[in-house]
Amino acid sequence: MKHTGSKVPFAIAGLLAAASFLLASAAEPPKSGKPSAPAAPKAKAPADARETPGLPAPDYLPEAARTLLRKKMDRHGLDAKELMFGVTLLRYDVAQGAAQRIASEPRLVRPAPGSEDDLNVALPERFFVLQDEARLRAQAVAAAAGKHDDRALAESYGLLVQTCVSCHSVYLKRQ
Ligand code: HEC
Repeated sequence: MKHTGSKVPFAIAGLLAAASFLLASAAEPPKSGKPSAPAAPKAKAPADARETPGLPAPDYLPEAARTLLRKKMDRHGLDAKELMFGVTLLRYDVAQGAAQRIASEPRLVRPAPGSEDDLNVALPERFFVLQDEARLRAQAVAAAAGKHDDRALAESYGLLVQTCVSCHSVYLKRQ
C-alpha cells in the first residue's frame, strides 16, 4: 500500500526518532530528514584525541635528530593521557600502569665527554636532570596509586606534571 500524501507514518517516524533521540543522545541523528533540536555536544571520544598537537619544533635541533628523539618519546603521549585519566578518575590500576611505564621509559644518556656527533650533545644538561626527576616522580605516583592514597596521588601527579612542563621548556629553549 502506498502512503500517498499521508502524513501519519511520517509523524510516527518523527516521534520515534525524537524518542530515540531523547533516550539515547549519543545515537545517530534521526533519519527523518528534519533537522532536529541541536544535538547535544558529542563527547570527545578518546580515539579522537589520539593525536596530540605535539611540541613546537626547537630551533637548534637538526630535523633528523628531532625525528630520532621523537621516536624515542613515542609512548610518551599515550602514557601521558592514560596517566591523566587514571589519576583524575581514580582508576588506580590505570594510573599505576601508566606511571610505571613512564618511570621505566628508556632514558637518554648524558653524552660521553668528547662525543660530538651525538644527538644527546645538543640537549641541555637540565634535560637529563629533569629526566631523572621525572622518573622518581613517576615512581611516587605509581606508589600512591598502589596504596589507593588519593591525596598522595593528587600531590605526586601535580609534581610530576611540573617536571613534564619543565623538561619540555628546557628542551624547547635549550636552557
Ligand atoms: C626529559 C625530558 C622530558 C620529560 C621529563 C617529559 N618529556 Fe614529554 N617530551 C619530551 C621530548 C623531547 C618530546 C618530543 C619533542 C619533539 O616532538 O620535538 C616530548 C613529547 C611529549 C609529548 C608529545 C608526543 C607526540 O606525540 O608528539 C607529550 C604529550 C609529552 N611529551 C608529555 C609528557 C608528559 C605528560 C610528561 C610527564 C609525565 C613528559 N612529557 C615528560 C621530553 C620530556
